[in-house]
Amino acid sequence: MTNHNLSQRARAALPGGVSHELRYRDPYPVFIERAKGAKKWDVEGRCYIDFKMGSASQMLGHGHPVVVEAIRKQAESAIFTADSHEAEIEWAEWVNRLYPSAERTRFTASGSEATMLALRLGRAHSGKDHVLRVDGHYHGWHDHALKGTKPGSTQAASLGIPDAINYLIHVCPATPEAMALALQDDRIGTVIIEASGANYGCVPMSVETLKALHDVARAAGTVLIFDEIITGFRWSPGGRQARDGIVPDLTTLAKIVTGGLPGGAVCGRAEIMELMNNATVRNGISPAVSHKGTFNASPLVAAAACAAMPLLASGKAQAQADAMAARMRDGMNAVMNDLGVRGLAYGDSSIFHVFFGQNSVEGLTPAEIRGLPKPCVKAYRDGMLARGVDMMAYTSGLTSAAHTPAIIDEALEAFHATLTDMIHNEVLP
Ligand SMILES: Cc1ncc(COP(=O)(O)O)c(C=O)c1O
Repeated sequence: MTNHNLSQRARAALPGGVSHELRYRDPYPVFIERAKGAKKWDVEGRCYIDFKMGSASQMLGHGHPVVVEAIRKQAESAIFTADSHEAEIEWAEWVNRLYPSAERTRFTASGSEATMLALRLGRAHSGKDHVLRVDGHYHGWHDHALKGTKPGSTQAASLGIPDAINYLIHVCPATPEAMALALQDDRIGTVIIEASGANYGCVPMSVETLKALHDVARAAGTVLIFDEIITGFRWSPGGRQARDGIVPDLTTLAKIVTGGLPGGAVCGRAEIMELMNNATVRNGISPAVSHKGTFNASPLVAAAACAAMPLLASGKAQAQADAMAARMRDGMNAVMNDLGVRGLAYGDSSIFHVFFGQNSVEGLTPAEIRGLPKPCVKAYRDGMLARGVDMMAYTSGLTSAAHTPAIIDEALEAFHATLTDMIHNEVLP
């Protein structure tokens, strides 16, 4: 079996041959069979250093034995019954303890469902339908999240989304002045912010800026949502809000919160979260905010999450991942320096981004930061993949607790060789 053969089969069975548009690759993606620690293997037996790590979900490394054992044990007792169970309580208690904004937690089946629910809660609590979001920030793929996702564009990044919904979504740049101006429109009752800055911090957002945005949203009396689907359990066990002491009303989580299985969560102030309590009646509707979902808090996912929580709560996993990302960023900057390439490796926590063409991204707009020429990005990603290193998206990558100095140094050799080719082929800006 080869990647090429499978891609031909995939194209006849799946739109574009993939199940997620970012998995598309020209001429075809690699089909992964097995993953362990910080590595994965394709159907042809090739090994890759993984800097995607399950789209940022596998913080403890692929196939952590404690998580695998918890899933195995749970599968033997009950895979899924759609009933209440003890592990969902324990799981919510972990989240409520770790996240300063969390007095109650409700689990969902994905991150997109979490932001969809948080926006519904924000609208119900504020009594206002209009939402303000920040240019380029990503909050999932549902109808209320796609206007403003493409940096510099206020067009929804998909057909099929009603104008009536896009009309309710306002987009502002990530500055307190711009947000304050936008919030003069008193139809807006909810603000949502990607806690890392756009695209897991590809467009960095300083502590001062996040704090100032928080203060502006608060002063306007809106419901403030931090989307911590990337930063949750990564920036710190309690996400960015615990690390930097900036607390929203509601928080969305996914990816790591589930121990790396499918799912998500919304947590936040009891006053807002209890709108989902069946006993809460508003305007004759009870529960005031409806939320269903067959697979919410599935026992298998809850078991994985509860097994992962002690490992995630200690902060050791984050410290290891942070150190490895810092080693990667430093190493990449040294390689660019050696080769005379103008560029910058940067990023917060356990994430690294690369920008080519100048040595700083300060003062650039999100559209400029995300606007590297396509042939450059493709040459970079393909060059790394050909040398056994898989990136997250664009020019970014992230580390886990399973990455080691030896793995990072191997990846840096691939980076050196890839850049050497890019110089030779004149694809750098
Ligand atoms: C910040 C952010 N919000 C929301 C989502 C959507 O989560 P999901 O892909 O689980 O629907 C993602 C996914 O990458 C994300 O990074």
